[in-house]
Amino acid sequence: MKQQGEKIVSLTAYDASFASILDQAGVEMILVGDSLGMVVQGQSSTVPVTMDEIIYHSKCVARGISRSLLVVDMPFMSYANAEQAAFNAARLMQEGHAHMVKLEGGEKLLPIISHLVEQGVPVCGHLGLLPQSVNQLGGYRVQGKDQAQADIIMNDALALEKAGVSAIVIECVPAALARKITAAVNIPIIGIGAGVDCDGQVLVCYDMLDITQGKRPKFSKNFIAETGSVSAAVKAYVNAVKDMSFPASEHSF
Ligand code: KIV
Repeated sequence: MKQQGEKIVSLTAYDASFASILDQAGVEMILVGDSLGMVVQGQSSTVPVTMDEIIYHSKCVARGISRSLLVVDMPFMSYANAEQAAFNAARLMQEGHAHMVKLEGGEKLLPIISHLVEQGVPVCGHLGLLPQSVNQLGGYRVQGKDQAQADIIMNDALALEKAGVSAIVIECVPAALARKITAAVNIPIIGIGAGVDCDGQVLVCYDMLDITQGKRPKFSKNFIAETGSVSAAVKAYVNAVKDMSFPASEHSF
């Protein structure tokens, strides 16, 4: 799809009913995100989510999918070394039915990513804002605004591609940086708060359906306001990503 210039549509799901609506609406990549800690469990970050919890949600989502690629987040500290990462990735695939696992971080993860890829695990990277590191970052802020930070994120993307990841999610970075990274790599870049020029877009489904505790993030859009049903909202999102009317400049940094 990257080579053909067709935008890739992704949303999160945490249960079979939502997964089925997304699957039928043409969402190509369904992510069981550890955002479930915040939107389902009501936690203040993704850090408390456990392997058992994400496997439970992944099993539920897998039952609702017939076409979409099922990508599942590896929880905080479930991939601290190569052996632990392989054990936990196998659980996500064998028990949770994941097609691909996603993990957060750049160059320091290269030995872990290479090990997973060598063992036959499809891996999606995650760069830019890393929600599992919120306690180090001190908050959810746009990343890569200065040249030094931007260079680190670009080098991380190139290194992850070399290590064999199949795709990279890039979260909350300036649109101009995401555009450069998208052009520099051959694998799909899926943006969230990263501008319209990424190869695809992902959102937390609760945000775009306006089921948000507190303020909706700037990079999201309420798709249910103009459609009136969950399935029509998801279809509107699919169309908006495909025709590049979402994200608009007001959703970008
Ligand atoms: O956990 C999640 O939902 C994610 C998305 C924000 C990409 O990682």
